[in-house]
Amino acid sequence: MTTSSAPRGVAVTGAASGIGKALADMLRAQGDDVIGVDLENADVRADLGTPVGRREAVRAVLERTGGVLDAVIACAGISARVPATIAVNYFGVTELLEGLRPALARARAPRAAFVGSIVGTKDVAPEVVEACLAGDEPAALAVAAAVADEGAGGALYPASKNALARWLRRVSVTDEWAGAGIPLNAVGPGVVLTPMHAAVAVTEEQRRIVEQAVPMPLNGHAEPEVVARALRWLTSEENTHVTGQVLYVDGGAEVVLRGPDRV
Ligand code: NAI
Repeated sequence: MTTSSAPRGVAVTGAASGIGKALADMLRAQGDDVIGVDLENADVRADLGTPVGRREAVRAVLERTGGVLDAVIACAGISARVPATIAVNYFGVTELLEGLRPALARARAPRAAFVGSIVGTKDVAPEVVEACLAGDEPAALAVAAAVADEGAGGALYPASKNALARWLRRVSVTDEWAGAGIPLNAVGPGVVLTPMHAAVAVTEEQRRIVEQAVPMPLNGHAEPEVVARALRWLTSEENTHVTGQVLYVDGGAEVVLRGPDRV
């Protein structure tokens, strides 16, 4: 295995807050040339919840890197009971990664990753998941709107992450990714102490529900740097053979929730 210490060009979405910010800070500290993408307070300001915003993000990143990119790590996401959760979390990841893939393919040691979630292991709103995997965003958003209208909007966030994990297994081993030498992986965090978590765990009752839904026997809730370090390794030159995997950085939640016999 050969690695080099030359600065790498790395695009990080969601770089203004939480996990994305922790990762961007970490990569900059080790000398990488980080292009942060976010709604505000970023090198590239773009709304990844819209096709136009994604195209603009891809264009701006390519412009800054001269069309060659060493790594892309998609951290931007929202957790809301509305169809926008599907637009940002699923299409904002898959379209951005696909858009930047040709630039990755031109790099010497390209890598890609995104942030999934432990809740992506839930099998909810299958009609939304199928629509996502079909790649038809207007149709997926219409199905998501129907789910929200029925009062089941809480299923949209886990559905977005479930669809991402399935998309990962479909595309990571194709000619476009593995065949082009690009490992593509995800992390699946449990509870991470970021502004997103603070917004959904305001009351004692909400915190109790989160505790029950995501049991973390190993070291409890994580700081964003914990997840960032896993992303850093997955997208480092050291990772030559891990692809298509969701690495659960969840204090054991995946094992507790899925049981000992799932291997
Ligand atoms: P955060 O809210 O601190 O950061 C998310 C960032 O994404 C923000 O800077 C926000 O502006 C950006 N963003 C949101 N919508 C965007 C859009 N349309 N276009 C561009 N940027 C946009 O949240 P956190 O916790 O750091 O979340 C990062 C990722 O981790 C998300 O994908 C989230 O689903 C995932 N995650 C978080 C967990 C937690 O407990 N905090 C647990 C499991 C997964």
